Amino acid sequence: MKILVIGGGGREHALVWKLKQSARVEKIWCAPGNGGIAEDAECVAVEAGDISGLVALAEKSAPDLTVVGPELPLVNGISDVFSQRNWAIVGPSRKAAQLEGSKIFSKEFLLRHNIPTAKMVGAYDASRDAYAALNSVDWPLVIKADGLCAGKGVFLAPDADAARQFLERVMEKNELGPGGQRVLLEETLEGEELSFIVLTDGERYAPLVPTRDHKRAFDGNKGPNTGGMGAYSSDELLPVALRDTVISTIIEPTFSGLAKEAIPYKGFLYFGLMLTRQGPKVLEFNCRLGDPEAQAIVARMDFDLAEVLADVAAGKLEPAKLLWKRGASACVVLASGGYPGKFVVGKRIVGITSIRDNTGVQVFQAGTRREGDSLVTSGGRVLGVTASANSLEIALKLAYQAAEKIHFDGMHYRKDIGGHVGRVTAAGE
Ligand SMILES: Nc1ncnc2c1ncn2[C@@H]1O[C@H](COP(=O)(O)OP(=O)(O)O)[C@@H](O)[C@H]1O
Ligand SMILES: [Mg+2]
Repeated sequence: MKILVIGGGGREHALVWKLKQSARVEKIWCAPGNGGIAEDAECVAVEAGDISGLVALAEKSAPDLTVVGPELPLVNGISDVFSQRNWAIVGPSRKAAQLEGSKIFSKEFLLRHNIPTAKMVGAYDASRDAYAALNSVDWPLVIKADGLCAGKGVFLAPDADAARQFLERVMEKNELGPGGQRVLLEETLEGEELSFIVLTDGERYAPLVPTRDHKRAFDGNKGPNTGGMGAYSSDELLPVALRDTVISTIIEPTFSGLAKEAIPYKGFLYFGLMLTRQGPKVLEFNCRLGDPEAQAIVARMDFDLAEVLADVAAGKLEPAKLLWKRGASACVVLASGGYPGKFVVGKRIVGITSIRDNTGVQVFQAGTRREGDSLVTSGGRVLGVTASANSLEIALKLAYQAAEKIHFDGMHYRKDIGGHVGRVTAAGE
């Protein structure tokens, strides 16, 4: 099998690493890849959002299977374009990707199918209507920009003044670009968050192990929001009774809703859940694996990922093939100094090779680039130090021990991944 992986972050490095272990895989390309992926695959300089560039690449290299990591190519319709040409691809259709690409579309879908979610106050495309709606709401109020905003589109407004300021920034000053042209106002939910991701071929689905990520930059959920500073997986995150409730009240109705609306879905579907006192509710959908969650999930995979993903693309997923290592896994993200604000790239990374032989630890690379013989930083999130073990405690210990051996100027990471941290009360600043 020859496989093309699209993307260039820690998630894609984890996928490539796992795919490469399959005896049936003879070649992997990654577009655009990164400095670490380059050791496991042939990186090709085509950006993940460049659909025509990716079509040209696939035409030339003729992969047997394409696996899409990030949301942008999916929202741009890569899956439809590849499917029209009968090219096997794992990734939902453009229509299905609207579950992530439009918060209003996804909220209306949830409401149509009676799936538990935060109550919608309204959806607005004119700022004056959104301001008017603020007169009759409870505080705090959640404001969501409709489109893709790279994690900056959700604001938990404590009061009307703060709400108005945010609305002005996104709707009038266009600070988030076109994604902020429409907004959704919804009630604030309380509880712990959980990422529940399933793999589906459109007919059948298989849940992956549950994960939780840590979005804030600093320990104790302080500081600004990031793409994710770490994640962990353990079966204890999702007791059997809760799992049953999630499946019967959320997962099943979502798939029957997709079927009823004839929305084809092949790939990973991410349910961002809030575990409230009234039961689990959907905060959002993502049309792909989360990152860093993917790194913690891949670390627990005990099956041939290439075979299973080929099954998904062919529409014949066998859920029983997805076997998992018992225990837990943890991923600690090592970030550039200043991230998620301004940061400098090009810092030399040392210490990774000393970890190579440690059992149970993998260093997945995200913002890295090769420069001659050295590896240097090229992004905000640089590495995902990932470990799996029989218990969460040991997985965390292994990951942190390995993280201490790595160094680059300005490197910072959270020391409380997997710990009992307070509820993440707000996204954005
Ligand atoms: N209704 C809500 N109540 C409370 N917190 C929310 C709500 N919606 C979103 N959040 C918080 O904001 C974060 C980001 O929102 P989300 O819908 O996941 O958008 P995105 O990941 O696209 O930024 C969530 O992880 C959660 O912490
Ligand atoms: Mg989210």
